[in-house]
Amino acid sequence: MSGDNTNTGRRRFLTAATSVVGAVGVGFALVPFISSMQPSAKARAAGAPVRADISKLEPGQMIRVKWRGKPVWLVKRTDDMLEELPKLDSELRDPASEQPQQPPYAQNEYRSIKPEILVTVGICTHLGCSPTYRPDMGAADLGADWPGGFFCPCHGSRFDLAGRVFKGVPAPLNLEVPPHRYLSDNEVLIGEDEGAA
Ligand code: FES
Repeated sequence: MSGDNTNTGRRRFLTAATSVVGAVGVGFALVPFISSMQPSAKARAAGAPVRADISKLEPGQMIRVKWRGKPVWLVKRTDDMLEELPKLDSELRDPASEQPQQPPYAQNEYRSIKPEILVTVGICTHLGCSPTYRPDMGAADLGADWPGGFFCPCHGSRFDLAGRVFKGVPAPLNLEVPPHRYLSDNEVLIGEDEGAA
């Protein structure tokens, strides 16, 4: 009898001990799984919208901000620059921005919310180099008919001052216009638009 009692007691102890180990084991297994599903603060910050201050942007100037690791350009176009844009349509691959390279509110002749401010991702749609801003019409190295725009030095792709790609260059698509909206006349939020607000 006393042997049975001892065995029963030992079984109870082992069962209790196993349950504790089991619970601890499950706890350890869950923690890394749950934490792997939550983006770190750093990752959240990297994907967050960024503000661009355009209060000091002069006509013809460009500023750069970084959004999701990409360069985003903001160019203040002059009236002369805007006047040139419709004249280029026949030389462009996608003059009406029919390819989904911009949000609907930038699918217009200037590819922008406000005609004078272009907001575009500064990454060539060929193989990802960053083009240079070349607003200088008729620049000696780009030809007398150069209307001002962006030139990619890697393989020679050319884009106009609305980020529209010219025909006959390697880049297949216009530059991307990121989602964006105006917080005020002087501040643009890149990475979020009215739909997400
Ligand atoms: S990456 Fe720009 S032309 Fe090739």
